[in-house]
Amino acid sequence: MKKLMAANWKMYKLAGEAGDTAAALRAALDGKLPADREVLVIPPFTALGPTRQALAGAAGFALGAQNFYPSRQGAFTGEIAPDMLLDAGCRYALAGHSERRHILGEDDAVVGRKVAFGLAAGLSMILCVGEKIEERQAGEVEAVVSRQLEAGLAGVPTDVSAETLAIAYEPVWAIGTGLTAGPAEVAEAHAVVRARLVARFGPENGAKIRILYGGSVKPGNAGEILGIDNVDGVLVGGASLEAESFAAIVTA
Ligand code: 13P
Repeated sequence: MKKLMAANWKMYKLAGEAGDTAAALRAALDGKLPADREVLVIPPFTALGPTRQALAGAAGFALGAQNFYPSRQGAFTGEIAPDMLLDAGCRYALAGHSERRHILGEDDAVVGRKVAFGLAAGLSMILCVGEKIEERQAGEVEAVVSRQLEAGLAGVPTDVSAETLAIAYEPVWAIGTGLTAGPAEVAEAHAVVRARLVARFGPENGAKIRILYGGSVKPGNAGEILGIDNVDGVLVGGASLEAESFAAIVTA
């Protein structure tokens, strides 16, 4: 399966800026996108339209959403449904990003509902997991990641199609801090995720599901990170905001 190179634009970029960045990214990667890589752009909701337009017809590019509410429709003021995201051109969505867990207060159970609902609605889901610094210091990385995976995947059928599910390991202490997990730490955490996926989905399917690394990925460290065992892509925040820098990561 292709490596998934994802740009999470978080709460940055007005619609016009997003369209311009997406167009610049497309131009920067024109003829240079490696055949084994897929680019995913995840803008804020209000920028989905212009981003979609800028990427229309570009092979190897996909659009994603940062969040949704796990219901088809209804009286949920301020929320957005998977069908609306599919209608806006999204193929992927995130669930369980650390900023939603730790700033917006989403717990494991909500994250699990979103993953199961999003998949059933036809979105490809990226479940984010990762420990806080105090959990790492207490030697709890495996326990935390395993708990988040178990709850996050609880409603996912074992025969889920591997292309429609990915895990992003994002240690909370490495997000937006300039600190990256070292190669040994990344390899260790990704091995834990892989073992859980194999236990949950069987050796064949569990081996295929992509595991992305996220947390201060930059053009200068992307190549090394992508070379680590069980790293099947990256989820990039800050360094994805500029087309040139994200294009350098995609081709690293
Ligand atoms: P940074 O790349 O800015 O550390 O953010 C990572 C992240 O949270 C991607 O979802």
